[in-house]
Amino acid sequence: ATTKRFNFNVEWKSVTRLCHTKPVLTVNGKYPGPTIAVNEGDNVQVTVTNKVDTNTTIHWHGVRQLRTGWADGPAYITQCPIGKGKTYTYNFTVSGQRGTLWWHAHFSWQRASVYGAFVIHPRLPYPFPFEPSPVVEAPPIIFGEWWNADVDAVESEMSRYGGGPNSSDAYTINGLPGPLYPCSIKDTFIQNVERGKTYMLRIINAALNDELFFAVANHTLTVVEIDAVYTKPFTTSAIMITPGQTTTLLLTADKSTGAFIMAARPYLTSVFPFNNSTTIGYLKYTTTPKLKPQLTLPPNLPAMEDTLFATRFTDRLRSLASADYPCNVPKTIDKRVVTTISLNLQDCPQNKTCKGYLNKQFFASMNNQSFSRPSTSILQSHYLNINGQYTTNFPDHPPHVYNYTGVDSVSENMNTEFGTRVVQVEFGTRLEIVFQDTNLLNPENHPIHVHGHNFFIVGRGFGNFDAERDVVGYNVVDPPERNTVGVPVGGWAAIRINADNPGVWFIHCHLEEHTSWGLAMGFIVKSGKEPTQCLLPPPSDLPVC
Ligand code: C2O
Repeated sequence: ATTKRFNFNVEWKSVTRLCHTKPVLTVNGKYPGPTIAVNEGDNVQVTVTNKVDTNTTIHWHGVRQLRTGWADGPAYITQCPIGKGKTYTYNFTVSGQRGTLWWHAHFSWQRASVYGAFVIHPRLPYPFPFEPSPVVEAPPIIFGEWWNADVDAVESEMSRYGGGPNSSDAYTINGLPGPLYPCSIKDTFIQNVERGKTYMLRIINAALNDELFFAVANHTLTVVEIDAVYTKPFTTSAIMITPGQTTTLLLTADKSTGAFIMAARPYLTSVFPFNNSTTIGYLKYTTTPKLKPQLTLPPNLPAMEDTLFATRFTDRLRSLASADYPCNVPKTIDKRVVTTISLNLQDCPQNKTCKGYLNKQFFASMNNQSFSRPSTSILQSHYLNINGQYTTNFPDHPPHVYNYTGVDSVSENMNTEFGTRVVQVEFGTRLEIVFQDTNLLNPENHPIHVHGHNFFIVGRGFGNFDAERDVVGYNVVDPPERNTVGVPVGGWAAIRINADNPGVWFIHCHLEEHTSWGLAMGFIVKSGKEPTQCLLPPPSDLPVC
């Protein structure tokens, strides 16, 4: 295999947006960070050097990390953070995946600015299973959020007083807010296109807290891949994409001239006050002499809260399930875990003022377990058999049955337990997890991300999951395969996993505020009997706590 080496220096860089200048945490002084582009099968070595005063880690979001969990990155799950002045080399091989993924910091809210694209080219000659081929590869389009305030302060204020975070000040395309925001005309993303060519647009949602709709005026989009898995191609006027997800699109430049608005705005926003602002950029034909920016949003951009569009779009995603790209969904399962996803209210500590609902403090949980990070990494504790850092008793079922989608059941949703509980399974287990949104406090679509594995979304629905009724309707032929699933607001999603990657993995909501409040669980896959089924030993430069 070819080895591709990269150096990532985590450092501060002064950046100006919306007329506010502030130090922004970056990789190599770039905001957003550099694109990593490799070929399927490559060994990748990224040496991360921490040049700042605070801890950091980097996560390769969606990269399977087969047997190399030490390189996955979430702080206190697979490694201790990289301290000030320290270096760690993430060493892994990319196999069996091709398409668009991304990387981001996995410590505190650092991913607000520390993120970039991770592109895996298929082996040459590019066997793209769709037409036309070849296509022109455009630079990745990454959605993000910009805060005028210091993001660390926003995060600690939120977790300390248990209120919702202030919303960001702008959505961005490749770090650029676009002309609908103050002082931002020069900070506008422009993609040049030539008439008659077809472009591959790699879309990544790196926003901290919001699912987004995206559309390009007067152009249709063809979805061909999600989370580095090919899909049955289909055309659409717009897409919905959650934080953590990627979507690769084909766009044919079929107009003769002009500049066309591309826009992203939230589907449901999880932060207070609700932020209904919109980031725009342009698709500019090379025949257009001068850009005359127009500011009218594309009529094909869905409105905020358009759940019908989000549902219809999501329901059209299907695995290719072809001879070349088979769909390995487990047709039967060994174990099912049903877990609620909820936001909880706890009483405010004495003599404190809390900013959550009813002067209480927000937490979040799965099966009423609010996840606390241990003081050393779970992967190390697991590998070295250190006791006391976590327990393997994450409950298989919700603590009690109630009408999950009912309104105003705040009182039923009060008490959560705190701990570091994981689901532990044998190597090769065919596991099903059903995520049930409880919708009690804050109606949301939760993007649940699984580390170290892809999964198959065999079912989704609104209301309460009912195994007797719903399992018969599962798609076990060509369900979408991905690493992040949007659990519908007031509904459920069922995923199936082939637990074939030994190690310790994180399962969490990719809305950053929810992860901070504990909407997460650990997932351990034990090593199998064959040497090829075992977790590799830790690298010698693994950071210590
Ligand atoms: Cu993209 Cu655990 O994260």
